[in-house]
Amino acid sequence: MTDSKLIITIDGPAGSGKTTIAKLLADKLKIAYLDTGAMYRSIALFFLDENEIDEERLKNILDNISYTLVFDGETYQLALNNKILGSEIRSEKVGLLASTISKIPIVRKYLTEFQRDIAKRHSIVAEGRDMGTVVFPYAKYKFYLTAKPEVRAKRRWLQLKELGVEADLNEILEDLKKRDEQDTTREIAPLKPAEDAHIIDTSNLTLEKILTEMISVINKND
Ligand code: DC
Repeated sequence: MTDSKLIITIDGPAGSGKTTIAKLLADKLKIAYLDTGAMYRSIALFFLDENEIDEERLKNILDNISYTLVFDGETYQLALNNKILGSEIRSEKVGLLASTISKIPIVRKYLTEFQRDIAKRHSIVAEGRDMGTVVFPYAKYKFYLTAKPEVRAKRRWLQLKELGVEADLNEILEDLKKRDEQDTTREIAPLKPAEDAHIIDTSNLTLEKILTEMISVINKND
């Protein structure tokens, strides 16, 4: 049953810090972390070398996939058809294509169902763009993280560097602004804070400070 599981949502634009924070919060609360951006990215991977999105093929892919959270002994990892999603989905090219694909209604419909299905089986910290507004409007705690575009671009650049990927900071900033534009203006489930979300500007906050603020919100409303 949905109501027996705890759902915490974290939404926000790329580079707002939500992935790192969602993982930390999930670890602290000893519940699973659900990266819904990884789902959109995994669909984008199928179309990376194609010039257009063929509707038939897309429908066929959506009909033949499933997502699960697989426990690797330490944490829960998101798997597509039982294969854990790794660094292959992390490039900027995949991120931008994921943003484009995420505008397609049938993609949102299927992925929303997969996300709700996972939440029936696991207590989760769910991270994405529409977690608090559309997918889990009844979530017990909702957060919306934001930060200045320049700060977000720098974070993304550092993340990629850590993964061994060389990238140009200006290009990242331009891609990020393009993605913000696509994600906030699309017709279905655009990126925006839920009315009851707790908004945190992370531009000048350490991870520790953000986490402390979230925990205090959770403890206050427990
Ligand atoms: O969080 P991310 O950068 O991995 O997400 C990649 C893209 O996927 C993002 O630009 C928009 C889309 N997305 C979405 O539309 N809804 C979500 N809940 C998560 C991601």
